[in-house]
Amino acid sequence: MMLPPSPLDKAAARAKYGPWAVIAGASDGTGEGFARELAAMGINLVLSSRRREVLKALGEELAAAHGIEYRVLVQDLMVAGAGQAIIDATADLDVGLYVSNAGADAVGRGFLDESVERWHGMITMNVTNVVDTCYHFGRKMRERGGGGLLIMSSGSALGGIPFLSMYSSTKAFEGNFCEGLWAELKPHNIDVLCVLAPLMDTPCYRRNTEGTGFLMDPSMAWDPFVVSRGSLDWLPHGPLLIYPNSPSDPDRSAEMVERRERVEAVMALGNSFNEPAET
Ligand SMILES: NC(=O)c1ccc[n+]([C@@H]2O[C@H](COP(=O)([O-])OP(=O)(O)OC[C@H]3O[C@@H](n4cnc5c(N)ncnc54)[C@H](OP(=O)(O)O)[C@@H]3O)[C@@H](O)[C@H]2O)c1
Repeated sequence: MMLPPSPLDKAAARAKYGPWAVIAGASDGTGEGFARELAAMGINLVLSSRRREVLKALGEELAAAHGIEYRVLVQDLMVAGAGQAIIDATADLDVGLYVSNAGADAVGRGFLDESVERWHGMITMNVTNVVDTCYHFGRKMRERGGGGLLIMSSGSALGGIPFLSMYSSTKAFEGNFCEGLWAELKPHNIDVLCVLAPLMDTPCYRRNTEGTGFLMDPSMAWDPFVVSRGSLDWLPHGPLLIYPNSPSDPDRSAEMVERRERVEAVMALGNSFNEPAET
């Protein structure tokens, strides 16, 4: 795996991404990994997902280990208004980092074989909530002079995938959205990173593939905690972090650089419209 240009300095990270971070989908997998890493930096946490007891146990453990404060928010992210519920529950906090982690889907369901309501739930989780929360926290971070937005997407964002049509489409939204936002928010000292995550051995992935013909080859899958740590290290170096499909695959720095250069070129072109014409 490629190394970030410089490792994340914990004190600097606490100053920029603290005093509070909000993690949507914090109870296991990469979400739990983000919570553990951020707590070790001394950043207070809002832990959100559907399972109160799991979040509470994690919060208690991290508070005892690192002396942080935590708050639990039980919220189903597929329900309309979920983004607003996160905004309301954190209105009194100074939030320096928002992490959109939850967003996976069961493997192998055709577009026509699920209810359209469920697909709308996925759009709520991976599109509407991301827009609502990034708009809200982005504006607050612009006022306070800095912060970070970290969105967990997927390698499936790079192209349409049969039987994951809606999933890969919503993940592509996250990638494009973050690329534009990265350039827009950079002058305001706000780091935006979209992680195109690889196959990871998460509880969700295990549940989704159990009893299916989709076999997990352990050598192919990443450890989710390794991905959380790597993603935080890359947070100041957006807009995209594209993981190799498996830990033994070559790094994808070239693709990442190419995508970033395209965004920078478009940004420069856009800026030229605002420059006074030479007379
Ligand atoms: N695992 C992979 O192989 C893989 C590959 C590529 C990309 N990704 C991306 O990486 C991220 C993490 O994936 P993951 O495999 O850990 O699965 P995930 O289901 O997206 O994330 C797990 C976390 O999200 C919470 N969550 C799930 N559905 C929720 C809902 N409807 N409302 C509120 N919280 C919800 C879970 O807690 P509760 O159960 O307590 O609600 C848990 O804390 C996702 O964005 C996914 O798209 C994963």
